[in-house]
Formats: sequence, structure tokens, C-alpha cells
Amino acid sequence: MKTVEEYIRSIPDFPEPGIIFRDVTSLLQDADGLKLAIDEMIKALENVDFDIVAGTESRGFIFGVPVAYAMNKPFIPVRKAGKLPCETVSQSYDLEYGSATIEIHKDSIKPGQKVVLIDDLIATGGTIEAAAKLVEQLGGEVVKMLFLLELKGLNGRDKLKDYDVEAIVSYE
Ligand code: PRP
Ligand code: ADE
Repeated sequence: MKTVEEYIRSIPDFPEPGIIFRDVTSLLQDADGLKLAIDEMIKALENVDFDIVAGTESRGFIFGVPVAYAMNKPFIPVRKAGKLPCETVSQSYDLEYGSATIEIHKDSIKPGQKVVLIDDLIATGGTIEAAAKLVEQLGGEVVKMLFLLELKGLNGRDKLKDYDVEAIVSYE
């Protein structure tokens, strides 16, 4: 049986020179790869007590929704700015390439609710740190940050020392 890492293709110089893009589409387009990835993420949450899965646009939606569904939990989309129709809270942050603003609906999390944040990948950690701030602004507690892939060289964990961070596959 193949490992998650074996399903991921690496594209040099995308979207900019110097970036090695870790592409999850090669995993998603293989039924066994998709199942393996979701099953591994579910396994990582087996002993975690939580109320909600929140996933960051857009690749965090791909992995967050099936995990939430399988574990009988609701899913909250953390969206790029300007997409959500009701009242929101916002956070801006820097990425490996560029910067962005993300938002969640104010009514999506009640004070005291335990939230698992899911994304396909952690690079600098900027996206997930901003997502955690949104959850906390609404009184939620981030009990875990779960990724399929981690780019260790970008030291994302350094800004996430207060959190339980787990990745299924790590790249040096
Ligand atoms: C990518 C990836 C993570 C984020 C990781 O998303 O899916 O969300 O970057 O980078 P960071 O740890 O440095 O914040 P991107 O913003 O490219 O959006 P996409 O999922 O819509 O492609
Ligand atoms: N998001 C941020 N950096 C990335 C990378 N190197 N590969 C894929 N997605 C990314």
C-alpha cells in the first residue's frame, strides 16, 4: 500500500521561482489516496474531545468537510475576505507568497466550544494562526490544528507554541 507522501507530487518553481509546490491534487484524484488521507486525519482526532471542525479556504475545505462528516461534527468555513454574507470577524496575515485576509461568521462559534482547525498544509503558519485568532475572538477554544502536510523548513510551529499541532506527513 502507498503512503500519503507517495501520492503527493512536488512542482518546482510554482507559483513563483524558488517555491516547491506540494500538490494535493495528485492524491485527491486517486480514490485510494483520498481515502487514506481522510482516514489518517480521522485517526489523529480519535482521542480529541471537540465540538466543531473549521477549515480554511480553499484546500482546508476539501479535507475538513469529510472529516467533520465522518465524525458527526459541524463544519465552519474560514473564508477569504468578502465571501461570507452575514456579520463576520476578520484577520489579515502573511503567506509563503503574498498576504491575505480571512473571515468567519460571528454566529458560527459559541463561547466555550472546542474547535479543531484543519488545512491541507502548514507552511509559515500564518493562515492557521489567523484562523485561530478568529476562533478565539468568538470565545472558542482551539484544541488541535491538523494538517495533511507540513513544510518544516518554514518553521510554522514556532508561532504556534500554544497549540497542539499535528501533521500526517512532514517535509524537511
Ligand atoms: C495554502 C494552504 C494553506 C496555506 C499555508 O493556501 O492551503 O491554507 O497556504 O500557508 P501558511 O502556513 O504559510 O499560511 P492558499 O492561501 O494558497 O489558498 P488555497 O487553499 O485557496 O490555494
Ligand atoms: N501553500 C503555501 N506554501 C505552499 C507550498 N509550498 N506548496 C503547496 N501549498 C502551499
